[in-house]
Amino acid sequence: MNGKFPQHFLWGGAVAANQVEGAYQADGKGLSTSDLQPQGIFGAITPRTAGDSGIKDVAIDFYHRYPEDIALFAEMGFKCLRTSIAWTRIFPQGDEETPNEAGLAFYDRLFDEMAKYGIQPLITLSHYEMPYGLVKHYGGWGDRRTIDFFERYARTVFERYKHKVKHWLTFNEINMSLHAPFTGVGLPQESDKSAIYQAIHHQLVASAKAVKACHEIVPEGKIGNMLLGGILYPLSCKPEDLLETQRQNRDWLFFGDVQARGYYPAYMQRFFRENGIQVAITEEDRQTLRETIDFISFSYYMSGCVTADPEQYETARGNILDMVPNPHLAGSEWGWQIDPIGLRYLLNVLYDRYQKPLFIVENGLGAKDRVEADGSIHDDYRINYLNDHLVQVAEAIDDGVEVMGYTSWGPIDLVSASKAEMSKRYGFIHVDRDDAGNGSLDRRRKKSFYWYRDVIHSNGASLKDRR
Ligand code: BG6
Repeated sequence: MNGKFPQHFLWGGAVAANQVEGAYQADGKGLSTSDLQPQGIFGAITPRTAGDSGIKDVAIDFYHRYPEDIALFAEMGFKCLRTSIAWTRIFPQGDEETPNEAGLAFYDRLFDEMAKYGIQPLITLSHYEMPYGLVKHYGGWGDRRTIDFFERYARTVFERYKHKVKHWLTFNEINMSLHAPFTGVGLPQESDKSAIYQAIHHQLVASAKAVKACHEIVPEGKIGNMLLGGILYPLSCKPEDLLETQRQNRDWLFFGDVQARGYYPAYMQRFFRENGIQVAITEEDRQTLRETIDFISFSYYMSGCVTADPEQYETARGNILDMVPNPHLAGSEWGWQIDPIGLRYLLNVLYDRYQKPLFIVENGLGAKDRVEADGSIHDDYRINYLNDHLVQVAEAIDDGVEVMGYTSWGPIDLVSASKAEMSKRYGFIHVDRDDAGNGSLDRRRKKSFYWYRDVIHSNGASLKDRR
């Protein structure tokens, strides 16, 4: 793989505030939607009472242990770390006029720690959480006023960190609101499609406002969107399967189309009409949407298949989406189908469509690890997964795709988003904590830690084409 990765390729890892920080009420933090879903993003909404606890309340205690963790990332040679700011640390209820200084100060300390090692932050403004206050009093993203609250939050953090953070993302996996509306837009799970698309529209307008604010405030700042790269293949070459696949891929590409091109794609008119979906879009909104992102970022874990005859096949839940399994691929312990070539394909699809730089901001294998008697962890399955995906990234770069960087998901074990499990581990660094919350929280290097360090140090030359 020698020479395929550009010289300034941003190697690193990605985490999210609600899955690592814990300290869910520290220093004036307000309750977020994530705090109300102790069982994960598809779990029931659970009102908080004093003393009850979910695994995320402590998570891996990154809020207090970040210096140790950043030092370990630096030891692997990270150039970049993706994390998110918890909106509720900055605006605890969401609608305050002035921010919470203690929350702002935490991220100052975190970014300063990263700067010590030359690790660049890549910061998501909202990763699967929003202030619960906005849900309770305004109905979340269903209400237009949430756009203004988000813009105030975005401008506040751009002003505060403009000399420390140059790469930003707006909403994590913005397309997932179609499947988990409470997590994505703060709406009840059973909301109808008109309500969901209206809330999504507000979020797209808010995203464009954040892009504009970033361009105004952050010198040399670059801001991208973030898509769940749920690439789908036709199950067969039957024309009906192909057409249905195109339709379903547009479910998620729609978000990229608006954010990268600056307007609603033509195909949405028919989709809205035939599905009885009404979305109020003002002329001012249309103007706002014209402010487009600088780069496209996405997560990629798996691909899936589509058929025009769904009643004849069983679907399986993958990463957020339900998909028909591909008979040519094997799955992970959680049934997510492993498809490294799909990553090369997806990179090419996105680059052909948008001609903007791409950033792979999540990719990884959730697996159960065994700690040996001597404390070592031999996670060759993880090494193989990551190696094979990175080989395909190199191929895509060779195809001519402009790739800015790669941040593997969960470089340190964290709480999983879908089911709030600790046992689904992604890390190069093991964290001693189980699903019930027992454990010392001690950190331990896995075999993959040394493997990834070598990949970064050799700028990808140590990767092995195992085909
Ligand atoms: C992505 C999310 O969908 O997938 C992450 O952006 C999440 O927050 C990751 O953790 C992996 O999913 P899970 O359910 O295995 O944690």
